[in-house]
Amino acid sequence: MNRRYRKTIIAGNWKMNKTATEGKALLDELKQTIARVKWCEVVVCVPFVDIPMAIRALKDTRIAVGAQNLHQEQSGAYTGEVSASMLKDLGVKYVIIGHSERRQYFGETDSTVNKKIHVALEAGLHPIVCVGETLEQRESGITAELITMQVKAALAGVPAEKIRSIVIAYEPIWAIGTCKTATAEQANEVCELIRATIRKIYGARAARAVTIQYGGSMNAKNAQELLAQPDVDGGLIGGASLKAPDFTTIVEAANQ
Ligand code: PGA
Repeated sequence: MNRRYRKTIIAGNWKMNKTATEGKALLDELKQTIARVKWCEVVVCVPFVDIPMAIRALKDTRIAVGAQNLHQEQSGAYTGEVSASMLKDLGVKYVIIGHSERRQYFGETDSTVNKKIHVALEAGLHPIVCVGETLEQRESGITAELITMQVKAALAGVPAEKIRSIVIAYEPIWAIGTCKTATAEQANEVCELIRATIRKIYGARAARAVTIQYGGSMNAKNAQELLAQPDVDGGLIGGASLKAPDFTTIVEAANQ
């Protein structure tokens, strides 16, 4: 973390968990335990159908609501899809784009990720853009090239004045939901590389201002060490965001 230059952001990614009723119970608990957060931004990225409940439940708190996806077109005949303006209209602030589960199970590519970033920014949403390598890619030594390419492809055409609205989440695929966390050094190394890539495109000031999260089995035990790294500005938390005590501990680690 480096709060002098950029925001620390802890975002929960509930994935396809929690009905609105269950989610409300979790948020009611979090509202009590996360009441005093001052130094970091807290976000819960909930399923689409939970969004109205979450907006209502979190009114007058410092916890923001995020979505987990959106469609790359602004409107039209795309049955079953949700647009950026629909999210914005509900009061959503953040949206996860290009999560590896979307890339793996729903055919998302660097190109759709790029389009989604553009529609999100146009609607005034803050994209949380996920990048990350598979175990095979890491073992064959192409992590740096791959991540650099994913970041460049994601940001293609994004103007300099919008770059600070974007959060990047480095999520090694081998660490997601596996209890295999990247070491603090591995996480920082890639987050640093992402910042260097942004620096080459947008310059040093912009690179310094962008929040870069780590995600992948971040939990109450390892959060502090990961967040102590200079280029790790927060976390995207899956499993551990579903339990109020664990998520609270992570937020507290970021709020120090
Ligand atoms: P995990 O998920 O914390 O359960 O590994 C992280 C994510 O997929 O965003």
